[in-house]
Amino acid sequence: MTRALSISLEVNGERVDAQVLPRLNLADFLRERLHLTGTHVGCEHGVCGACTVRVNGEIVRACLMLAVQADGGSIQTIEGLSDSDEIADLQTAFRDRNALQCGFCTPGMLMAAQDLLMHHAEPSREQIREHLSGNYCRCTGYQAIIDAVETTARLRKSRAS
Ligand code: FES
Ligand code: FES
Repeated sequence: MTRALSISLEVNGERVDAQVLPRLNLADFLRERLHLTGTHVGCEHGVCGACTVRVNGEIVRACLMLAVQADGGSIQTIEGLSDSDEIADLQTAFRDRNALQCGFCTPGMLMAAQDLLMHHAEPSREQIREHLSGNYCRCTGYQAIIDAVETTARLRKSRAS
């Protein structure tokens, strides 16, 4: 029988110590052990982007990462970004632009969009499309999502100047 391993990591600013089986992926760990269910699980093989989280500052697909690989790391989930107000403007733009319908893709979309805006203050629509191309949405047709991200970039730029 496979033995559980000890891991220690930071999740949304709080230290977490846990015993996990080596096969447990990070998405299931966050959802089932920490009850952070904002990280969604769609395809479970790295295609849809619903499980996107930030690990040590970079976005990753939590379904493709084992929880043991996150040992010692710093994880931020959609709950962390939302609670800290880091993406409050992006969330408002998504709502105002009708960039979400069922909401299943939305946490992953917001994580990916915020990652883009952190690295590019003024992304073109093409850059937005490209950066979000690994996140699937079955409802919106994507146009409204691109509008929301573009609007947020403009607002942030105007606030900064
Ligand atoms: S559930 Fe991870 S990419 Fe689809
Ligand atoms: S809003 Fe339903 S999948 Fe994107």
